[in-house]
Amino acid sequence: MLPVAVLVSGSGSNLQAILDAAAGDPDFGAEVTVVISDRPSVLALERAAAAGVECEVVEWGGDRDAFTAEVCDVAERHGARLLVLAGFMRILAPEAMARFPGAILNVHPALLPAFPGVHAVRQALDYGVKVSGATVHFVDEEVDHGPIVAQEAVPVLPGDDEDLLHARIQVVEHLLLPAAIKAFAQGRLRVVGRLVEHH
Ligand code: GRF
Repeated sequence: MLPVAVLVSGSGSNLQAILDAAAGDPDFGAEVTVVISDRPSVLALERAAAAGVECEVVEWGGDRDAFTAEVCDVAERHGARLLVLAGFMRILAPEAMARFPGAILNVHPALLPAFPGVHAVRQALDYGVKVSGATVHFVDEEVDHGPIVAQEAVPVLPGDDEDLLHARIQVVEHLLLPAAIKAFAQGRLRVVGRLVEHH
């Protein structure tokens, strides 16, 4: 079993998808050993507790290097060999990539490289794109930038607002992210230079 640390900041619907996949798929090959949140009292922590997974809160103290070191320490203490950023709203310092080389995944609610950053869904709507989607990628030193593992498009429909489009994107996220973790756990996914090898 590959021990995984899932990093969260909010509702944790992606965390839930991972927990459900781990519980329901005997071949999943990965186990969430810790959920780390930068905020106390978020729904994601309740989801983790309900699943019997250990939770740790590492609050942002204003120093990215110190925060990153603590997050990595906590993940390592729980044996994690993969970090999964699942709605995690903090940017990790390069130390995280050094300590978990080729082993940090992120999910983003747009088709990267379009619309990186925290307002991806709103920016896609404002731009008037007719398709958007979800991206799972390995994390590198730049924000929402790193070798792409999986993408899937969803239509932008007339009458969409940010919540409607985000909900449609999240349906896809909840499939892509567990699939990427399973592939990584089974040794079918790895970074090779700027790209990934995925079979
Ligand atoms: C997801 O849409 C993810 O792409 C973005 O933040 C959202 C988190 O949702 N980075 P949840 O906490 O997994 O429900």
